Amino acid sequence: MDKLLVRGGKPLHGTVRISGSKNAALPVMAATLLTPGVHRLRNVPRLRDTQTFARVLELLGAKVSFDSNLLTVDTREVNSVEAPYELVKTMRASIYVLGPLLARFGRAKVSLPGGCAWGPRPVNLHLTGLQAMGAVLEIEHGYIVGRDARLKGATIGFDVVSVGATAQLMMAAVLAEGTTVLENVALEPDVTVLGEVLVGCGARIEGLGSRRLTIHGVTSLRPIDTAIIPDRIEAATFAAVAAMTGGTIRLENVMPDHFEAALRKLEESGCALQRAADSVTVSGPARPRPLNVVTQPFPGFPTDMQAQMIAVCAVADGTSVVEDTIYLDRFTHVPELARMGAQIELKGNVAVVKGVDRLAGAQVMATDLRASACLVMAALAARGETLVDRIYHLDRGYESLEQKLAALGADIQRIH
Ligand code: EPZ
Repeated sequence: MDKLLVRGGKPLHGTVRISGSKNAALPVMAATLLTPGVHRLRNVPRLRDTQTFARVLELLGAKVSFDSNLLTVDTREVNSVEAPYELVKTMRASIYVLGPLLARFGRAKVSLPGGCAWGPRPVNLHLTGLQAMGAVLEIEHGYIVGRDARLKGATIGFDVVSVGATAQLMMAAVLAEGTTVLENVALEPDVTVLGEVLVGCGARIEGLGSRRLTIHGVTSLRPIDTAIIPDRIEAATFAAVAAMTGGTIRLENVMPDHFEAALRKLEESGCALQRAADSVTVSGPARPRPLNVVTQPFPGFPTDMQAQMIAVCAVADGTSVVEDTIYLDRFTHVPELARMGAQIELKGNVAVVKGVDRLAGAQVMATDLRASACLVMAALAARGETLVDRIYHLDRGYESLEQKLAALGADIQRIH
């Protein structure tokens, strides 16, 4: 299994170009199933997760080709409605094919996602929403099975703000008979942009950018031709690297509004920021100031930056408090940081982080995508060598991370 060897302790400087967004690309890839045609998606990041999704589409009968970051998906010959456990277990977002398959074919057989590194991640809102639209869904041998569904418009209110369920039901509703109203929807850019892509294909969606969407079903859509937005979590991660190492990093190809909450927290920690239309320059302080962070749905502070921010707080000049309200036990990175000398006390979904002068290199193990980014950041700031194991987690969501960091002056190498 690949590992990363990092020799830390120096500020990183330079410019990094941010890749396309994983969490924006995946639902748009699923949306290609809604219409038989040749779909073109530009700026798709080359990641394990986008390749897994491409594999799911191929198993359904689509022809998929990746040329650099251009993804072409031909869905004219789609002839299966089954998304197998082997793939879905490696990437929960595979469930995004459920709504489009039911909308186009009236049938679907999609494996339930199963467990996750940190606690339960149910899909009940996806299922109850589709059932409200008339889908008859059975759970058979670990699969969600839908038969003879003719989706109809419905009014659905989400108890919890869910990125996945909002995207799922939006895709199901665009081809449904009649009008669907979705209330208390997610506002994450990945969701709003999916809506804009669908409208660009002829869908009728009102209220994008608000917590209430009205979707008037249409009978057909045009193929997708779009460019995926920049990855706001990758951008915020590199901004945090500047805070962590005390360097100056210019982020290119970004939409600053998409990660404003993280930028504001980094300013509170002492970073100096220069914002421009499609770039941000972040200069880290000699030592970060402590922070209070509470994760919230967008436009609040993203849970996908919680681990990275704990790394910054681990070397802050004082005590920070980081609370995750989205995933109550997304703290598998904490014991690994402790191996590097971090002082973090966990109280339920709250981490109390007592900053230390300096972290020390150690052997650590990545447990999930964002936890691995956190460990790489800690390694960049630590004295000595760190070996980060199980970096396949990292490859799921960061395109060419070690090359980008090396270009900023990091002493980092992948060991096979
Ligand atoms: C998306 O996951 C992202 N994944 C996650 O990023 C991100 O952490 C999450 O949104 C929150 O921002 C992708 O976009 C592929 P949710 P998703 O549905 O859609 C509860 C990363 O690191 N819930 O918004 O699965 C759920 O348990 C990944 O890139 C239900 O109770 O998240 C959670 O507490 C990790 N029932 C909350 O809602 C449901 O049916 C938000 O989850 C669905 C969700």
